[in-house]
Amino acid sequence: MNLFHSNSSSNHYLCGLMKKIAITGGAGFIGSHVVRLFVNKYPDYQIVNIDALTYAGNLENLKDIEKNTNYVFEHVDITDERKTEHLFVKHQFDGVIHLAAESHVDRSITDPLSFIKTNVMGTANLLQSSRKIWGDAYSGKRFYHVSTDEVYGSLGDTGFFTEATPYDPKSPYSSSKAASDHLVRAYGNTYKLPFVISNCSNNYGPNQFPEKLIPLCIHNIKNNKPLPIYGEGKNIRDWLYVEDHAKAIDLIFHNSENGKTYNIGGHNEYQNIDLVKTLCTLMDQKLGREKGSSEKLITFVKDRAGHDMRYAIDASKVAEELGWTPSLVFETGLEKTIDWYLKNTEWLKSVTSGQYQDYYKTQYSESI
Ligand code: NAD
Ligand code: DAU
Repeated sequence: MNLFHSNSSSNHYLCGLMKKIAITGGAGFIGSHVVRLFVNKYPDYQIVNIDALTYAGNLENLKDIEKNTNYVFEHVDITDERKTEHLFVKHQFDGVIHLAAESHVDRSITDPLSFIKTNVMGTANLLQSSRKIWGDAYSGKRFYHVSTDEVYGSLGDTGFFTEATPYDPKSPYSSSKAASDHLVRAYGNTYKLPFVISNCSNNYGPNQFPEKLIPLCIHNIKNNKPLPIYGEGKNIRDWLYVEDHAKAIDLIFHNSENGKTYNIGGHNEYQNIDLVKTLCTLMDQKLGREKGSSEKLITFVKDRAGHDMRYAIDASKVAEELGWTPSLVFETGLEKTIDWYLKNTEWLKSVTSGQYQDYYKTQYSESI
């Protein structure tokens, strides 16, 4: 079934009416890639980017498409119930793709309440507002919640997260995302709200805020600063290039049945220490440095509290049912990412001044 796409015979908007899609968190890392994909690929859609522009939101991420006639930006905080509802009444969205969230695990350890506010209450507001405008007329409507593999907890040396893995979140961030997943399913069960959820592994690529491991290390290598590795660096993440995630979201949004969950992952597990060493090697080549010089910056620091050991996704369901597989091999994706950060010096400079310096001092000063 193709719910939204205009080629679909099941689509009741075929009469040429514009489809209005709200994308929350569209000024952030993944959200900006999703907005760009939808704005360019679906000129007959109106894409409304709803974002509060927190430290992680940056309209520079969307400079190339901001003047497109099918793109609108709404500066709204989804924790504001009244303003959120007003926006839904004003635009009468046909679909919602919800990415807005507090997303950094370390910040959730120092400030859990802001995660509960945005990720739980913000999601609840969006669900309420969707019900408000849709009433019981759900045909052709869809609420898509973009979630994380961290809701499943942490794996040992073997095994993978499947869609049937029980929830076992372990950080304030992952618990707040798990709570929001539960809320979405509860609205599906209780009010028959048409929803779909995807749980994805670690993304990397252009426009990621340099608090996350890969852009933080690229920035520090460039500036010859220490590379902080938590614990022994043996924790494992499953990395996926952000544009591949955006393509999966597009596919799932348009082709999933209601009420389904899909896991999305790169089948690309790396221990943090090996990943950072690979980055060092690639950066030495790009910067014309002597082989091995960036590796000397690696500094083992105090571990993250409650640090999940390993994430690994079984993405066979989305592959078999919807034909999605990652397109990029990791080294190619890393090179594209490094090249983007080395080229976009102004972007990097602007996001690493001011507030970022304070955050960095608080987060790392004890260790480096
Ligand atoms: P991000 O932190 O880069 O961006 C989050 C965006 O949400 C920002 O633009 C921010 O301004 C906005 N936002 C935050 N609070 C808001 C509020 N109260 N109201 C409106 N907007 C608000 O995050 P990201 O890494 O792009 O992640 C996007 C989504 O994908 C999140 O829901 C996250 O849980 C999920 N996810 C992320 C990853 C990953 O590796 N980054 C993996 C799986 C799932
Ligand atoms: O798995 C999906 C999740 O991936 C998303 O839901 C989150 O929004 C996203 O932030 C990411 O969470 P992680 O905690 O896995 O990502 P992060 O880049 O913060 O850390 C990756 C690994 O690197 C993790 O094991 C912690 C470690 N790390 C991180 C930082 C910032 C370090 O060793 N040193 C660091 O300075």
